[in-house]
Order: sequence, then structure tokens, then C-alpha cells
Amino acid sequence: MAQKTLLKGRVLSFNGSPFEGEPTEAVTISEAVLIEDGRISAVGGADSLISANPDAEVVNHGQHVIMAGFVDAHVHYPQTAMIASWGKRLIDWLNTYTFPEEMKFGNPDYAAEIANRYLDLTASHGTTTMCSFCTIHPESVDAFFTAAQQRRQRVVAGKTCMDRNAPEGLRDSPQTAYDQSQALLEKWHGVDRISYAITPRFSPTSTPEQLEAMGALWAEHPHCLMQTHLSEQTDEISWVRELFPDARDYLDTYEKFGLLGSHGVYGHVIHLESRERDRLREVDASLIHCPTSNTFIGSGLFDMDGLMREGHRVGLATDTGGGSSFSMLHTMASAYEIGQLRGSPLHAAQLLWLGTVGSARTLRMDDCIGNVAPGMEADLVVLDLASTPAIAQREACADDLWEAIFPTIMMGDDRAIAEVWIAGRRESS
Ligand code: GUN
Ligand code: ZN
Repeated sequence: MAQKTLLKGRVLSFNGSPFEGEPTEAVTISEAVLIEDGRISAVGGADSLISANPDAEVVNHGQHVIMAGFVDAHVHYPQTAMIASWGKRLIDWLNTYTFPEEMKFGNPDYAAEIANRYLDLTASHGTTTMCSFCTIHPESVDAFFTAAQQRRQRVVAGKTCMDRNAPEGLRDSPQTAYDQSQALLEKWHGVDRISYAITPRFSPTSTPEQLEAMGALWAEHPHCLMQTHLSEQTDEISWVRELFPDARDYLDTYEKFGLLGSHGVYGHVIHLESRERDRLREVDASLIHCPTSNTFIGSGLFDMDGLMREGHRVGLATDTGGGSSFSMLHTMASAYEIGQLRGSPLHAAQLLWLGTVGSARTLRMDDCIGNVAPGMEADLVVLDLASTPAIAQREACADDLWEAIFPTIMMGDDRAIAEVWIAGRRESS
């Protein structure tokens, strides 16, 4: 008989979007969740689930919050070792810190070491799925997927293609980018919980010929995600204008090569023009907010309120190592602060939704991850709402659940993660 585990606690699930109507009404709190064969088989009252499943192992988490594992919709796992590098803006930051580090990933041993280090760090922070850029090297993709496969994690990643404005050793060509991406896609896409994303880094590091080759590959595999960067910094946008003088705007440098579509995942999207916003909305593309990165590299303030009102599909991400943290809690705190700076603070329910359901929606995976509901894959995080003395004393005088959760969002880190479950298996305790 299949092994059953019943987790008792305050089980938090979303029954709708907290961006439509009163945020708290989008949330249901239940007493228990039943895990069976790597999936959630039931959510509901503890007594009734226990009596219906007397064979289940019961784990009582008391007042801890049990919710979906965090989904980080835009990261660069190869930038793990150079996170928190000082004092540069985007293009100088790439040239000074990022490219020299990414150069090392042709070595499969180094790639495996960092992939495992990254997945250890993210699991300890409660992240169970991420969508990662790799490097130009196929070895970097193999290393990441191999490590994720061993941990039975649902992940998305792809070879980062660049054929100009990058150093020797970190450039491919339109043809090798196409061939290697296709080979990796055919090798990995759909294996266990692994998905391949076609990954041109961004317009400045791809020739029109390479963007065209990526567009052709995507047209042959339209159900794959395509991830890239869009409109992150004003000096980047000026550079794109010089490199593509015929393009109407930054988005057009992708659109004209077949790199705009519903399965497109665009990181940052801070300084969008109205035509770009309209087109992204029309095709129902995914927009990823990377708040700690946007403040750390000095990029700007994402327009969450405006984009949500327009009905965009929005997710949340650390953007490690442009982002300054592996923690999605910290990333939610940063999103809250950016909302404050723009005059529209996000509710705790909205922050938690962005880091779970919202991100899963952007990766087109909300049918299997990002929420606690029967049939979903059992990727769960157990949050201790009193994980440090500072948080505990604030939580102790909270009047309701939301006031109790918010200090953990604002001040929590890996110490707030009491347990992580991946595919129905406990990772840490
Ligand atoms: N734009 C192109 N590459 C990168 C990257 O690695 N990080 C960030 N933040 N922006 C980028
Ligand atoms: Zn990025």
C-alpha cells in the first residue's frame, strides 16, 4: 500500500487571486493535508482525514503554516558564487563579475558543485521549483538537470545563448546555439520533473541571426518556455536602440524574430513603453518581478499595481546573483518595499501568492505546483512564524493570521523554514 503522510498545522491554500477583490478572501486555512505517492491527495479537517486514513503517519506542526513550496521564476544558478558583488550597474556588473564566473561552467565538475550548492541553498530557504538560466556551456545544463533529477525537483532551465558582446569562450554562434539547445531540449524536456526553456540571454548579446535561430527553435517547440531579459535598465535600453536601429522598441527586437508569445517569460520589465505593455498583455506573456535585483543593480521600480490592473501574468523571482538573496521570503519583503515606494503596498496574501501560484502561472505549471490542493504535486514548505526572537515578539502580539505572517515575510530567512517537502518527501527538519 502507498505510504501516506498527514501534515497537521495551519494549511494555507489559495482559492482565487488575492489581486481580485479582498486579498484575504482568496485564502483558505485548513487543518491538515494528506500526502500520498508524491502528491497531495486531500486537504481538510484533521479528525476526518485521520479517521479516513488510519494508516497515515501523522506529523503535527501545531501553529506552523503549511503552504506550497516557493517558486522562483527567474534565477541564474551559475551566479551563486558571485552573489553580492559590489558597486556596478548592469552592463559593467555582467562584464566585471558575471561573465568571468560563468566562464568556469565548461568544467562539468565545477558546474555540478555549484548546481548542488545552489539547490541545497534554495531548498533550505523553502524554494522547491525555479526557472534558471545556465551558461553557454551544455555542461552547465546537464549539471543542473542531473542535480535536480536526483532531488526529484520540478525545475526549468536552458542553455544561455550569446554570440556577441561577451568574451571569447562565452560566445556560441546562431548554428551552435540552435544545435546545442535542440539537443539539450530533446535530451531533457519532459524527463521526470524537468522542463527545458529556450534561453537567449538578452538582445545585446545575440546577433539578429541568433535571435532568428532561437525563434525558429521555439516555433518547432511552442510548448516549451522561452526565457530572456527585457527592459531592465535605462542604459541597457539605449544600447538596444543603438544595436537594433530598426526596432520599434526593446520588445520588438524579440517580436520580429518570433520571440514573443504566450510561453515567453520576460525578466525585469521595468521601463516598458505602452506598445510593449499592450503586446505583452495581448499575447498573455509572463512578466517576472525581481525586486532585490532591481534595487541591488539599481535598475528601477517594477509597476506591480499598474501591470496587475492591466491583467498581466506576473511572477516573483530572486534573480540570483543579480538579486541579493536566495530567499523568496526576503524577495517578498523587497517587493513590499518597492510597492511602498510606488505608493501601493502589497498585502501579505498577495506576496505569498506571487511567490507560489503567481510564479507557477508564469511558468505554465499552476496545474501541478504552487498551491495546496488535491492532485497537486506535494512540494510544501512549513513556516515557523516565531523563528527568531525579534520575529517571535512581534508575532506574539498579532491580532490575526495576517499580522502573524507579515513579520516572517519582512524579517524571515532560512530559519523560518521548519520543513521542506519535495515530491512528497521531507527534505529537512
Ligand atoms: N541581463 C542579461 N543578463 C543578465 C543577468 O545575468 N542578470 C541580470 N540581472 N540581468 C541580465
Ligand atoms: Zn536574469
